[in-house]
Amino acid sequence: MTIPRSEYLSPVWADGIFANRVLFITGGAGSIGSGQTRALVHLGANACIIGRSVEKTEKAAKEIALVRPGAKVLGIGNVDVRNFDSLKAAADRCVKELGSIDYVIAGAAGNFIAPISGLSPNAFKAVIDIDTIGTFNTIKATIPYLIESASRNPNPNPSGTTGGRLLSTSATFHYTGMPLQSHVSAAKAAIDSLMGNVALEYGPFGVTANSLAPGAIAGTEGMARLASSELTQKGQTKGIPSGRWGTVRDIADATVYLFSDAGNYVNGTTLIVDGAGWRRQGGA
Ligand code: HXC
Repeated sequence: MTIPRSEYLSPVWADGIFANRVLFITGGAGSIGSGQTRALVHLGANACIIGRSVEKTEKAAKEIALVRPGAKVLGIGNVDVRNFDSLKAAADRCVKELGSIDYVIAGAAGNFIAPISGLSPNAFKAVIDIDTIGTFNTIKATIPYLIESASRNPNPNPSGTTGGRLLSTSATFHYTGMPLQSHVSAAKAAIDSLMGNVALEYGPFGVTANSLAPGAIAGTEGMARLASSELTQKGQTKGIPSGRWGTVRDIADATVYLFSDAGNYVNGTTLIVDGAGWRRQGGA
């Protein structure tokens, strides 16, 4: 089934801006990750989608490849971001088969609703391991390739092409605190901190590293999980200042901006894409 472009990408972006570039994304078969990948592939990139499930990952890769004739989208399943060696092998395979890694999205995440009293030490650790350690492992496995990409694509580049961009998926919960999400709040706060350090250490090599913090995005797994809690739902839906839920396209467009020539000087920060929802989250 062909999805109209307007559903996953703004008409303002020019076709081909990511030609000959390669995206490496963990969690790329999830609802937000596949939206980000679809947008970049539409605009010319090839991609490697990394995930735990072989079936889900390969299916998403096949579907995304349909958005542009000639697109190469590789689904590499059986990779857990908690296992550095499997991630490193996937990054090496991506470069071997597609030629480079120019953009990285550390998107894999784990979440469930639980109060602190309902979290075993291992439950808290599971989310820290997937989100924070998984993001660290993704950085560690791909940073040499991002440095190479940045050296081939100076920032800014007169030709307008870009490379050496790293983006993590964060959240806004740690700005205010969020009931039933202490584990995710802690994990995402650490991710934001980590991205700032990557910017400091690798900015001089031409790499940019940022977090993207989505708000309540309709139709995603995260929303399905969080909306099952009455308490969380109340906090999430009450008066989003922009007056609507976010869409996967909102996140895809923000990603395109950060990876494009327009995002050259955005480094070491978090782009919040939530309709200002965080300012009222948690019942404020
Ligand atoms: C309390 C729970 C729990 C729950 C699991 N645990 N679910 N504790 N309440 N609802 C506990 C388990 O009992 C166990 O602790 C520990 O967590 C690890 O669970 P496992 O199932 O063994 O771990 P694992 O198979 O690795 O699964 C990790 C997971 C799972 C995070 C628990 O949900 C997962 O794999 N999720 C990946 C997909 C996902 O969550 N996507 C949503 C992303 S959305 P014990 O002590 O018993 O060993 C997202 C949105 C962020 O992140 C917000 C954006 C706005």
